[in-house]
Amino acid sequence: MQHLLSIEDLDAATIEHLLADATRLKAQRGSHEKALAGQTWAMIFTKSSTRTRVSFEVGIRELGGFPMFLSKNDIQLGRGEPIQDTARVLGRMVHGIVIRTFDQKDVVDFAELSGIPVINALTDEEHPCQILADLLTVQEFLGGWTGKKIAFIGDGFSNMTVSWMWAAKHLGFALAVACPADYAPSAAFLEKLNAPNVTITHDPVVAAQDAHVINTDVWLSMGQEDQKEKELAFGPFQVNAALLAHSAPGHIVLHCLPAYRGKEITEEVLEHHASVIFQQAENRLHAQKAVLVAIAQK
Ligand code: CP
Ligand code: NVA
Repeated sequence: MQHLLSIEDLDAATIEHLLADATRLKAQRGSHEKALAGQTWAMIFTKSSTRTRVSFEVGIRELGGFPMFLSKNDIQLGRGEPIQDTARVLGRMVHGIVIRTFDQKDVVDFAELSGIPVINALTDEEHPCQILADLLTVQEFLGGWTGKKIAFIGDGFSNMTVSWMWAAKHLGFALAVACPADYAPSAAFLEKLNAPNVTITHDPVVAAQDAHVINTDVWLSMGQEDQKEKELAFGPFQVNAALLAHSAPGHIVLHCLPAYRGKEITEEVLEHHASVIFQQAENRLHAQKAVLVAIAQK
């Protein structure tokens, strides 16, 4: 594996290999190989992060490498130096880049211009590291996704929803997305996705009905904080006890976090499903280590 820029770029075999290796690395934590020995990895973040930053810093160290965290404001990028110039400089100094930013094109450009491995740590378009952790969590709690129905309740065209739709395309599980009509995936995207196993509804009960996994995310993603009018459309799309009453027995609830209790999820639901949701957060570490090992072994 050369880069991890998107889930769209992956295939089922690669996803399954990464999840199997994440499971191995999780079981062997502390005693596994040092695949990044002697390497320095830069971590450029132009948006906030708790889980992604910490899991990458810890994961790179556990694999024998040195993580170098560079927030936008610490480097000349924050003063307007083009990201393309930043890529060409860092490519001559470090061994890999983890980048969280807005525009997916910047991540793609970074990979092309730096000449070193690049990992997408979230853009407006995709969050591939999160989806690998989410799939690992589904494997751990439900034994896999074959024959399972997964529901996504919330913003139909966020980075998380897009990532889930590509995962469903590659892996073939039934994915029902429930979202307000104004925040649905575009027709052009759905045509490109071309996945009959992905359905879009504006009725959350239709999506939640008999679902084994109920997934949600913030209504306002990073960078949208001032779009207060957007939030008004999402009232009926809260994951609460009444909605979960329609789901399959033994269902699990996923949330990539951070969560806004009382908005996309109730306090009651989040706390009832906390053992799954916080294991999902921990799985970021194991899934990303598998990605780093796959890149190091390329
Ligand atoms: N889920 C996730 O990516 O969390 P952070 O924004 O805290 O990294
Ligand atoms: N959709 C959210 C995911 C946060 C991990 C955002 O982009 O803010």
